[in-house]
Amino acid sequence: MNSETNVPRGGDWNLKNVPEMDDEQFQLWQALLEDRTGMQLALQRKSFLQTSVCTRMREVGCETYQQYFLRVQNGPYAEIEWTVLVDRLTVQETHFFRHQSSYDLVRDYTVSKISEQGVRSINAWSVGCSTGEEPYSLGMLFDEINALLGLGVYFGITATDLSMPALSKARAGIYSERKVQGISARRLKKYFKPLERQRHEVVADLRDRICFARINVLELSTVPMENLDIIFCQNLLIYFRRWRRRDIVNQLAERLAPGGIMVLGLGEMMDWSHPKLERLPYENTLAFMRQTS
Ligand SMILES: C[S@@+](CC[C@H](N)C(=O)[O-])C[C@H]1O[C@@H](n2cnc3c(N)ncnc32)[C@H](O)[C@@H]1O
Repeated sequence: MNSETNVPRGGDWNLKNVPEMDDEQFQLWQALLEDRTGMQLALQRKSFLQTSVCTRMREVGCETYQQYFLRVQNGPYAEIEWTVLVDRLTVQETHFFRHQSSYDLVRDYTVSKISEQGVRSINAWSVGCSTGEEPYSLGMLFDEINALLGLGVYFGITATDLSMPALSKARAGIYSERKVQGISARRLKKYFKPLERQRHEVVADLRDRICFARINVLELSTVPMENLDIIFCQNLLIYFRRWRRRDIVNQLAERLAPGGIMVLGLGEMMDWSHPKLERLPYENTLAFMRQTS
């Protein structure tokens, strides 16, 4: 046994004997994770952290938490190693059309922009897009609006996330039967191609409309996104401290075009206001519109 963490040597341990992380080590991991991703890891999630870190330690042959802690920060492979680990520590749960009222709002807003204001191009950003269900849902919605109005409006969607593996899955656009369960038969037929083993691939026309990229929302000041008509950011801010949520939405607000909207997850931002934004009175949503002048 190793005296520092009680990890049996030789990699022959299994998840039943995941070694206990002491308080000091847990705080170091908490701080590293929050510093790099913004995510707060509550004490109740300690066993999740231990299991995730241990699984990875076993894969790369590290014997102690301390040794692995150094490995994700130093040396030529630190960046890659961190990328792998962070994918396992972040919550990537998502669904197609996850919060229907928010999509209803986007649909009504877009139709009014096109038919009442004569707009012929709409740019949207899905922030924290996970494995792609959110931007593909927006893409289906926009395509349906185009089919309905028949005006050939240009729709561009940028979808960003911190996790590289999540982005790879998003780019591939292949989903299991379970994942597409909430999608209507009509949409499934129009926007997905059946594959073997009951999988479904997003059709190329829809996939090609979306540009996926890695963006850490803690580094928004370095990101050249601007003049957006729609910013859709849901189920990401909930993992952050209040001051950080405010900081991020303040920066997102600055990226909106005049008259653009920012759609957040219900309850994700309390007591927040911005001098250039107005809250939209749309039922069961948390959304803001940037003033036109
Ligand atoms: C729970 S998912 C939400 C997915 C989707 N927006 C939805 O509502 O269904 C949260 C996503 O945020 C991403 N994430 C976490 N921290 C991030 C950060 N600092 N920058 C960008 N994305 C981050 C995670 O990788 C994950 O894919």
